[in-house]
This record gives sequence, structure tokens and C-alpha cells, in this order.
Amino acid sequence: MLLDGKAVSLHIKENIKEKVLQLNNIYNSVPKLVVVQVGNNPASNVYIKNKLKAASFVGIDAELIHFEENVTNDELIDTIHKLNNDINVDGIIVQLPLPKHLNENDIINEIDNSKDVDGFGLVNKGKLFCGLDSLKSATPFGIMELLHHYNINVSGKHAVVVGRSNIVGKPMAIMLLNENATVTVCHSRTTNLKEVCLQADILVCAVGKSKFITEDMVKPGAIVVDVGMNKNEEGKLCGDVDFTNVEKVASYITPVPGGVGPLTIAMLLQNTLNAYIARRGIKC
Ligand code: GUN
Repeated sequence: MLLDGKAVSLHIKENIKEKVLQLNNIYNSVPKLVVVQVGNNPASNVYIKNKLKAASFVGIDAELIHFEENVTNDELIDTIHKLNNDINVDGIIVQLPLPKHLNENDIINEIDNSKDVDGFGLVNKGKLFCGLDSLKSATPFGIMELLHHYNINVSGKHAVVVGRSNIVGKPMAIMLLNENATVTVCHSRTTNLKEVCLQADILVCAVGKSKFITEDMVKPGAIVVDVGMNKNEEGKLCGDVDFTNVEKVASYITPVPGGVGPLTIAMLLQNTLNAYIARRGIKC
């Protein structure tokens, strides 16, 4: 059965839209998201366009601040400080990747924790690690929402996460663990990948290689979540999972496109709304 991320993200966005409207009626203001972009990475251009379009759909005010490729760490940090001090800004994201001369970690960690709607800063990551309320990385947060939507309870299940990035793999493992899954994280140095994947009740793959997960790596009845965003030989978007064949053995599977991707954007908007509510001390 398909885990329809597109439909679930629409449902989430409709709820956000309604809440934004209600809050605007009471407080005469809407949440504001600022996206900081450096250079013209083609994938980033597409992601940002989709983020701005989705923000407009739900009534969140979104602004893009664009810098040329040769911007310095100090110039970027100065902009982040200004946004931190702007009471009308609720969410700040720095679109990744950044050019090599910039220090991604240092820059992201300058974002005020209450406005860190990507959940990439050390404080929000630390809170997640401790199971405390935090702004959570949008992609794994969206995957948890998707599983909840389909009443999939992860407690006691063996979840295998393939990929250990700071954006997806690591926070995904912690979110699953916080909901009582037994979690294994695999990566490029894992020697017996196929055997580990075959033990998974829930298999999440985020490695960025098309057809990386094949049918023989999936236990019959497993739930398969594909975070990949790759281009195939014909230039079409495809995930990390050999969908056509894996679909035959999995109980649930996310398609690409229309699976995890749309949820990432919906959860970024949810985080922006949550940040607006928390920063103003609004009781909901
Ligand atoms: N680059 C790829 N995914 C993301 C994301 O979720 N947030 C940001 N800021 N950059 C990204």
C-alpha cells in the first residue's frame, strides 16, 4: 500500500492555513519565514521555489534573501543576527549546501534557537536527543507524521535507518527511538547491509543512490520509507528504492515523487507556525 505523502502534506497544510487565518484574525499578524540562499545551486533553487509557494498557500509570509557565491562567513552571520533581532521574523533557514569556503555549522548555529525552524542547531538537536520539545528536522519529522497518519505504531518494531546524515539519518534514528522503536543505523561502512536490512520491520533509506534498496534486502511485509531524491538515466526524479520490485514485498511504501518530499515542506511550515506560537507565548 502506498504511503501517500502528497495527500498527507496537503492535509497538514490545510490545517496550518486554517490556524494561520485564526491567528491573523486575533493578533493581526501572520508567521514570517526567511530563507537565506547563497549562490545558485539548481536543486536548491527548486526546493526554495517550492518552499516559498507552499508558504504562500498557507498564508505564511516568506522572504528570500539571496547572496552571491562569494559572500563571507561574517556577512552571512551579520544577516542572521539582524534576522534574530527582528521581532517580526519567526523562522530562519539557511538553504544547504553552502559553498565550500563557508562554515555551515558555525553559520547555522548563529540562528536563534527559537527561530531555528530547520531544527539543525545544536540546541534543538540536543533537546531532540533528550526527548524534550524542540523544533525538529523537517524530513524525519514529516516521516513520523506520515507513519502516525497511517496508524503505524513504531513501538517495539525494529527500524533500520540507512544513512547517517545530520539532516535525516541521525535525527530519524532518534525520533524512532523516542517512540520506542529498536533502531539500527547503517552507513557506507556497514559490512552486512543486506542482512541488517532484512531484519527491518521499518526500513528508512536516505543515501542518495537510485535503486540502492532492492527487493532481496526487504523482509516481506516491511514498511519502506524512501528519502532519496535522485535523477535516473532519463533525468526523471527517483528515490533510493527500486520501487517497482520492492513494492511487491513491502506492506507500505512511499513513492518518489509524492512521498517524503512534500512532507518536508509541510513540516517546515508547521515548525514556522509552532515557532510563531511559542515566541508569542500564545496558548493553543
Ligand atoms: N538542503 C536539503 N534539504 C534541506 C533542508 O531541509 N533544509 C535546508 N536548509 N537545506 C536543505
